[in-house]
Formats: sequence, C-alpha cells, structure tokens
Amino acid sequence: MSPLLEVRELSVRHGGLVALDRVDLEVESGHIVGLIGPNGAGKTTFIDTLTGYTAPVGGQIRFDGVDITGARPHRRSQAGLVRTFQPLELFDDLSVRDNLLVAAHTPTVWSTITDALWPKSHDTTDTHRVLELLDLLPLADRLPVELSNGERHMVALGRALVSSPRLLLLDEPVAGLDPSETAGLADRLRRLPEAGTTVLVVDHDMSLIMGVCDVVHVLDFGRLIASGAPDAVRADPEVIAAYLGDQGR
Ligand SMILES: Nc1ncnc2c1ncn2[C@@H]1O[C@H](COP(=O)(O)OP(=O)(O)OP(=O)(O)O)[C@@H](O)[C@H]1O
Ligand SMILES: [Mg+2]
Repeated sequence: MSPLLEVRELSVRHGGLVALDRVDLEVESGHIVGLIGPNGAGKTTFIDTLTGYTAPVGGQIRFDGVDITGARPHRRSQAGLVRTFQPLELFDDLSVRDNLLVAAHTPTVWSTITDALWPKSHDTTDTHRVLELLDLLPLADRLPVELSNGERHMVALGRALVSSPRLLLLDEPVAGLDPSETAGLADRLRRLPEAGTTVLVVDHDMSLIMGVCDVVHVLDFGRLIASGAPDAVRADPEVIAAYLGDQGR
C-alpha cells in the first residue's frame, strides 16, 4: 500500500534563501509523525507547502496516491489534507458546539435553500462525535472566554477535526500550554489515528513529540538530517549536535 503522504525532492525558496532542500518524507496512514528541528529549519514552510500556501521550486507531493503538487489549497482540504486553526481564531460569541458546527458546515446552494426553509436541518453527528472524542461534551454550551487556555486549544483541534480529515497538520499545537495541558492534548492526539485521522505534528516540545509519535523526522537548514523511531532519532549524534543538545537525552 502506498503511503498517505509521499513527498519527493521537495525544494522551496524564500527569495535567495533555500528554505527546503530536496526533502523526501513519507507519512503512513494511521501514524502520528513528528517533524522537529531548530528555529528557521523550514518546518512551517513544509506545512505551508503541503497545504498549498507556498509554491515549491522543485519536487512532488502525492496525497493518497494523487499528485497534488500544483493543486489549489481548497482542493487539498477537500481531499482531506487539513491544518489547524489558531486557538485565538475561535468565535467568541458562539458556544463550543457552534464553533465546531460552523467549521463543519460548508454552505452550498442547496444547503442555503434548505437552511432558509428548515433552519434546524443541519446534521450535527460529526460535531457530536468530535466533542465526544476530545472530552469536550461537558463544555459544549460554554463560550470560549469561559475556557482555560488548554481547553481553547482543544476546541481549535476540534474545529479541524469536524471535516474528518485524512491527514491533520499541526504547527506547534502546545505552544503556550503548561505541562499538564500539554499532556492532556497529547492524550487526545493519540486517539486520532483510530478515529481515522493521521497526524503530522511540528513542535519544539520533546515530551509531546517523543510521547506521541510513531516516527520522527528532523530538519536542519532545510535539509532532512534524520528519520526514524523517536528513540533512534533522540540518540542520533547529528540530531543532538544540530538541535537536541542536552534536552533530548
Ligand atoms: N515569507 C518568508 N519570506 C522570506 N523568508 C522566509 C519566509 N518564511 C520563512 N522564511 C525563512 O525561511 C526559513 C525557514 O522558516 P520556517 O518558518 O519554515 O522555519 P521553522 O522551522 O518553522 O522555524 P520555527 O521553529 O522558528 O517556527 C527561515 O530562515 C525563515 O526566516
Ligand atoms: Mg515554524
């Protein structure tokens, strides 16, 4: 079976700077895959290129066996390649449930007509499923301002999940969270593959990366310098020299 995501020789430039240099990376369906590396290594550029916000100068991106290298961003999200919303982008006047519902609901001509005729006709099955998956049901009627920072991050994750993505891309999902909130988010991430969502996560928090990932890739100055199981990557001398120093040991 071919991998869910297959990136070959991907190169990206920002002006004169080579942000990604012929990166090869695969993500198997059902895995949680980590992407780590020092500041400026090209991690966010990699995610931006997968979602279609940045155009590569070379290489190929295949998703679910289809070449999407030149596809428009909305086509990629329709195909199930989705990134998270920032927790600060929640709608403050809407309940947690409605924040998820609006993310689930892409209006069509037909739905606009049915909404006008039968205002409560939305199917909320997906919303309910995600609230349950992330333990958010007790908070479903609360407003974002009433939530802790960790809970807001969970709602932001929920908004990305209501469309049932095949591959979810997370850029620093635990930035600003304390260790117990980070552990809570890690716990929810582990549930995603079984619920049908494969994960690619970028973060500097090694407790998150080493704790949830099946495979970890390491970028340094736009080059992939290591790939493998978390323990093997953590012990790799080149990775320690480039990035981990004492923190990974
Ligand atoms: N829009 C841009 N224009 C010019 N240079 C950019 C742009 N975006 C990123 N860069 C540069 O490209 C390189 C890779 O940046 P990127 O944001 O992908 O790194 P990163 O690995 O996500 O870093 P961090 O861990 O700090 O988030 C850096 O040198 C950065 O300064
Ligand atoms: Mg970044």
